[in-house]
Parts: sequence; C-alpha cells; structure tokens
Amino acid sequence: MRVLSGVKPTGTLHIGNYFGAIRQFVELQQKYDGFYFVADYHSLNSNPESSKLTSFTKDIIIDYMALGLDPDKSTIFLQSAVPEVLELAFLLSNVTNMGLLMRAHSFKDQQAKGNLPNVGLFYYPLLMAADILLYDSNYVPVGKDQKQHLEITRDIAIKFNELYDDDFFILPEPIILEEVALIPGTDGQKMSKSYGNTIEMFAPEKALKKQIMGIVTDSTPLEEPKDPETCNVVKLFKFFASTSEVDDMKAKYRAGNYGYGHAKLELFEAVKRYFDSARKKREDLAADPAKVAEILRRGSEKARAVAIPKIQRIKKKMGLVGNIY
Ligand code: ADP
Ligand code: TRP
Repeated sequence: MRVLSGVKPTGTLHIGNYFGAIRQFVELQQKYDGFYFVADYHSLNSNPESSKLTSFTKDIIIDYMALGLDPDKSTIFLQSAVPEVLELAFLLSNVTNMGLLMRAHSFKDQQAKGNLPNVGLFYYPLLMAADILLYDSNYVPVGKDQKQHLEITRDIAIKFNELYDDDFFILPEPIILEEVALIPGTDGQKMSKSYGNTIEMFAPEKALKKQIMGIVTDSTPLEEPKDPETCNVVKLFKFFASTSEVDDMKAKYRAGNYGYGHAKLELFEAVKRYFDSARKKREDLAADPAKVAEILRRGSEKARAVAIPKIQRIKKKMGLVGNIY
C-alpha cells in the first residue's frame, strides 16, 4: 500500500505543517511505501521569485529529513523531476469538467476577491490529482484544507475509470487527523505561510522567541486570574508538553500572578526542546549538500520508475499509440 503527499515550497515550514502533515508522513512511512515530494510546480501559480523558490525547495527537502523522513524507507523527490506528471494532468484535463475546477476553493477564493486567477491556479487541483493518481497512491495524509482536493481527485479518477476501465485508477483516501486538523497561528487564525502568523520550528532562537512572544492574547493584567481554555498560548503548549505540564500551566492561569509573558516563555522552551534533535540533524544535512543531492537523485529515479510505465499504460488505455510507427 502506498502513501503519498507533498508540500508546496511557498515559504518556510511551520509547526502547523509539522503537526498537520509531516508528523503523519513520518509515522506512516513505518507501515506503508511512502512517496513524499516537494510540490515545486504547484508554487509557480503564485509567480514566486525564482531564487526564493529554489531556496524554499532546498529547505523543505532538508526539513523533511531532519523531521524524520528516512530516504531508506521513503521515496523523497521533487515534483518537477518527474515531468510525466504534467503529461498526466493534461490527459486528465480531458475527462474533467470545468465546473468541477470552478467549484474548487482555491479558484473561488480568488474569484471572490474580484481576481481572475492565472490558468495555473485554475488547473491546480488537476495537477494535484495527477500527483496522486500517477503513483497509484492508496492514502494521502493532509490537513483539513486539502479535503476538497482529494474529493476532486476521486471524481476525476471515477470519470476516467467509467470511460476507459472500471478498475484502472485506485480511488485514494485522505488521512486527516481531527486533533491536528487546524493548528492556530499567532493571531488565532489557521497558521499559514501566507498569513504571516507562523511559528517556524527551525527559525534561529531569537526569531523563534519573537514569533512566540507575538502570540495575540487579551489584556488581563498579570495579577488577575485568566481563562486557560480560550488562550492561544495554552492551545499551542498542548502540542509540546505532557498532560501534567499542561495542567500545571492551566492551574497557574487560574491562580493569577502569572502573566501571558510567562506562559509564552514556557512555550518557547518547550518548542525548542521538542525540536532540539531535529535541529541538530538539520544543521548536519545543510552542511552536506552533496549528500542531499544524492538522496534526491535516488528518490527521483525511484519515482520515475513508477511513473513512466504508468503513463504508458494510461496513454494506451486512451488510444494513444506512441511511437509504434
Ligand atoms: P500553508 O497554509 O502554510 O501554505 P500548505 O498549504 O503548504 O501550508 O500546507 C502543507 C500541509 O500542511 C498541508 O497538508 C496542509 O493541510 C498542512 N497545514 C498547513 N497549515 C496547517 C495548520 N495550520 N494546521 C494543520 N495543518 C496545516
Ligand atoms: N496542495 C497541497 C498543499 O497545498 C500540496 C500538494 C500538491 C499535495 N500535490 C499534492 C498534497 C498531492 C498531497 C498530495 O498543501
């Protein structure tokens, strides 16, 4: 059974990406054949500066491994190293109704803002379907915001199967863990690279502290009791501390004479501790780009070894005869 997922290199990874997605990737690689990639083609629809796209891509590959993806267990690769995925997206576009893509949140959000997005953004769920179907993926671990894209993928696969062969594409299942489906950002909204509200696990210590000290709280004075149930700091602390440490913090909130600043410092220490060994591993990997490049090369080769025969079978199913003449 294969599990596949990807992350777009549109910024620096944050703890929402870790708990919502990457931690599941790491756990699932123990039981399944893991295919994990950096979705670099997908980033292009926001027209990033090319040097930024390159450096975010390299960073995410290193982050993946520092956080526990093991190249001996999983196939780690770049989306753009397997261009067959673009061919499949085109082939699938012919069995995809425009209405299906017009209902996608990514498109509707832009439309609601009065923007007419570029074709790349409109096409994005179709490319994501190709990412998933090219590799016969059974399971796709993602955060809640990706649920609709998985539904679109299944709809496209069903349509293809109806037209060409009932059992051709496997219908992929999302894996969405409710308890980590939506990690709040420093402003209380969903943590997201695009909202400037992130806590980045590998930020330098000073920057990490600044992000955590910037968590929005109310203005209850230090000496007064506070409600731990509605506080963002406590919500985040739960991911990094034991139940007794969380209970301890809650008791201090209720007792008063304990300020949000104190709680934030405890959270800061807990985050640092939690990612301490990953940070060391990250430093070692970053210092050895040749090793990282070799892992990527091997991963892309493995991914292509699956993709090439699959795309050939798909083309044949559709009646494209290739180079036989
Ligand atoms: P971002 O919103 O920061 O750009 P992406 O869209 O690149 O993040 O998401 C990468 C993965 O991380 C996806 O599976 C997504 O669902 C998950 N993810 C992102 N933000 C969060 C969050 N705040 N809580 C839970 N999961 C998240
Ligand atoms: N769309 C996903 C995101 O924004 C990234 C992604 C691209 C992906 N292709 C995928 C995730 C295939 C899972 C499977 O986070």
